[in-house]
Order: sequence, then structure tokens, then C-alpha cells
Amino acid sequence: MTLELHQVTKKYGELTVLRKIDLIVRPGELLAIVGPSGSGKTTLLQIMGTLDKPTGGTVSLAGQEVTSMPDERLAEIRARHIGFVFQQFFLNPMLSAVDNVATGLLYTGMPRPERRERAAKALAQVGMSHRTKHRPGQLSGGECQRVAIARAVVGRPDVVLADEPTGNLDSQSGAAVAGLLRELNESGTTVVVITHDDRLAATMPRMVRIEDGEIIHDNQAPTGAVRTGRIQDEPIAARIEGGEIIHDGQPLAGSPRPRPSQSEPIVREDRPFAGMSHAAQTREEPASCDPAAINAIAPSPSPKGVIP
Ligand SMILES: Nc1ncnc2c1ncn2[C@@H]1O[C@H](COP(=O)(O)OP(=O)(O)OP(=O)(O)O)[C@@H](O)[C@H]1O
Ligand SMILES: [Mg+2]
Repeated sequence: MTLELHQVTKKYGELTVLRKIDLIVRPGELLAIVGPSGSGKTTLLQIMGTLDKPTGGTVSLAGQEVTSMPDERLAEIRARHIGFVFQQFFLNPMLSAVDNVATGLLYTGMPRPERRERAAKALAQVGMSHRTKHRPGQLSGGECQRVAIARAVVGRPDVVLADEPTGNLDSQSGAAVAGLLRELNESGTTVVVITHDDRLAATMPRMVRIEDGEIIHDNQAPTGAVRTGRIQDEPIAARIEGGEIIHDGQPLAGSPRPRPSQSEPIVREDRPFAGMSHAAQTREEPASCDPAAINAIAPSPSPKGVIP
């Protein structure tokens, strides 16, 4: 699912937070958004994830403009296509790890035993099988974030948007979480990560730098070809394998390699997320346990379907 922002502006009264942002995130990309505090990163990510609306400009998902869609429809799109990971985890303190993850499937109407079964598998994929019954208060920060990642991906979204996912973690836990996001990307999911961690950002194939509401640097801005529907044929500009950059971010002249796509997800049997392609049969709610966020992404009763 291509995510496209065109001339996006966000204002709060007199304060302009985003200024005419043009950004295209292609299927299968792994993208870091960096910039100083207050530069507009979270605002940008929330607009990308349809949690917030721009004051001006347009946001399109899979070629469909979502800017003026009603909230109920947006909630449905989020539920089926987008997973969120937040710095503060937003887990429900009253629920076990497995039940926290299972809330990510509430939208589906799936029976509870099946939701828990799926949740347990997602927890296994983030290495948390040994803590399924623990509540957040009984888990470390890194473990909480792994549970939150499992919740974000249990519905097999096309895109995962992570806002400072390592921000509350020590370096070792942060590295583990970053590794999980990379594995997730290698399994075919588009991943966008806001980070203050320069070392983490440096491992990402694409880095977008924001200052004062403007993109001042994008090391892999799509060319005009992207807008003409040749996204899937674009050569990969950078790849990471085993946590290492194996290409330097420049276009691969003459040796195009397949980009992860919805039709051909990369499946790595040796990876935690192997087999979790974003060409999944079902799309479900990436829940958050923050009451405000729950309201913001509240599922709609509409029947299931894909973005037309
Ligand atoms: N609801 C709001 N009303 C008014 N101003 C807001 C609102 N939300 C954000 N802002 C302002 O918009 C600017 C950008 O905020 P944003 O949260 O996007 O920054 P950020 O780059 O994510 O910063 P940080 O790295 O500290 O998380 C800030 O100056 C902030 O004060
Ligand atoms: Mg922020």
C-alpha cells in the first residue's frame, strides 16, 4: 500500500506545524523520520496514519484520497491496514500480555479463543512466549514494547507506524525492538519509524529529516516514475540483511532486485516474522490501550473489505 502526502500543511491556530510536506512511502519501505523536538514528526506520523487530519493538502492510501473521509471510514482503514507503536506502549495494565495483543483483533469479531491463539503466535514472533500471562506492570520496558509490537502486527497490517519505539528503552532493549521492526519489514511490511536515535536511523535504507515542519532532507525521495505506477518495478535503493546495510542507499544501476510487495512478500523462515506477509487474508484493528487512542481508532461496524 503506497502512502502519499501531497502539500500537507498542519496548523494549530496561528502556529504552523507542517509546511507543504510532499512524501511518498512505497510498499515494503523501511523509513526513518528524524528531526529536532517540536519539528513536527509526531504530527506528520499521525497524519500519515489518519489519526489526525491536515489543514491543507491531501493524504492518499493505496491511491485513494482519505483526507476528507468520515472518521468511521478512517477507523476502518486503520483497523485493516495500519499498525501503531508508541513510545509509551499504551498497554492496558489490567490485561495479560496475550489479552493485550488480542485486543488488536477485537475489530474482526473473531471469537475470543481464536483471538488469543493468534495473539499467542504474535507474542512468539516477538520472543515473548514465556510471558504471555504477565501484565504490563510485571514486564520490563523492552518486553512491554515487544508486546505492543505484537499487538500492532497481530492483524497483519500493510504499514506499521512507530513513534519513538525505542525512546523509553535502554540501548539493549532498544536494539532488540529495532531488530524486530527490521525483521517485520523484511517480511514485507512497510515500516515508518520516528527516532531520535541516530544510530538506529543510520541503519534505515531511507531517512527523512524534518526541521520546523519541513522536509529538509530525504535520501531516497521517489522520482516521477513513482507517480506513474511503476512503484513495484523500482530497484531497491538500499537493503539491510542481518541488521547490516548491504547497500549504500544509492539506486542499484542495472541490477534491480525485487522490492517487497503485496503480491510477493519476502518470507524468511529464519526470521521471527517469516510468513507474516502483509498480503494477509484479514485486516484487523491495531488497538491501543490509551483511552484517547482507542477512541481515535475505534472500530467501525462496517463489513470487512479492502480499500476500494
Ligand atoms: N494539539 C496541538 N495544539 C497545538 N500545538 C500542538 C499540538 N500538537 C502539537 N503541537 C505543536 O506542534 C509542534 C510539533 O509537535 P510534534 O509533536 O509533532 O513534534 P515532534 O517533532 O514529534 O517533537 P518530539 O521529538 O519532542 O516528540 C510542537 O511545537 C507542538 O507544541
Ligand atoms: Mg514526537
